[in-house]
Amino acid sequence: MHCFFGILLLLVAGHAAAEVPVERAVKYRQSAYYLMGQHMSRINAVIKGEMPYNKALLEKNAEIVVMMGGVVIDAFPAGSDSGATKAMPEIWREMDKFRQLMHESQSELDKLLAGVKTGNMATIEERFSEASKSCKKCHDLYKTK
Ligand code: HEC
Repeated sequence: MHCFFGILLLLVAGHAAAEVPVERAVKYRQSAYYLMGQHMSRINAVIKGEMPYNKALLEKNAEIVVMMGGVVIDAFPAGSDSGATKAMPEIWREMDKFRQLMHESQSELDKLLAGVKTGNMATIEERFSEASKSCKKCHDLYKTK
């Protein structure tokens, strides 16, 4: 009997801990995307010649973008479709398709990082363009303006 209640308590506590308030879940995800956007812009600035090329710095930018891609994968918990979010409700109705787009984009980001590591500007430019397309593809479908 004791054991049963112990397990029940554990389950309840575990559930409560897993539940993040909606507002925080939205802010968390937007923060990750914000950083992703910032570091994509920094890479773009180097491609456009507005910022000097520095291999180590460029790699760091690409690494952060990849890392943020890993963060957003788990940043769409059920119920976080309300409040100050630009995430469209379709995401939760089409979660498989949405996740597919996230994985596709993540694979482009991995390729971008690998490209940055080659130090070849033409490769970097091409991979950056592909990665940006994967961002836009999802935004067009699942993000409000
Ligand atoms: C699979 C879908 C998907 C992909 C891929 C994606 N995004 Fe987004 N992005 C979203 C959604 C949904 C939001 C809205 C989040 C919210 O408001 O809760 C968003 C929001 C943003 C924001 C606004 C963040 C803020 O300050 O509120 C930026 C910037 C952004 N994304 C950049 C990018 C970049 C750069 C890429 C590609 C490297 C990318 N996104 C790829 C779905 C995606």
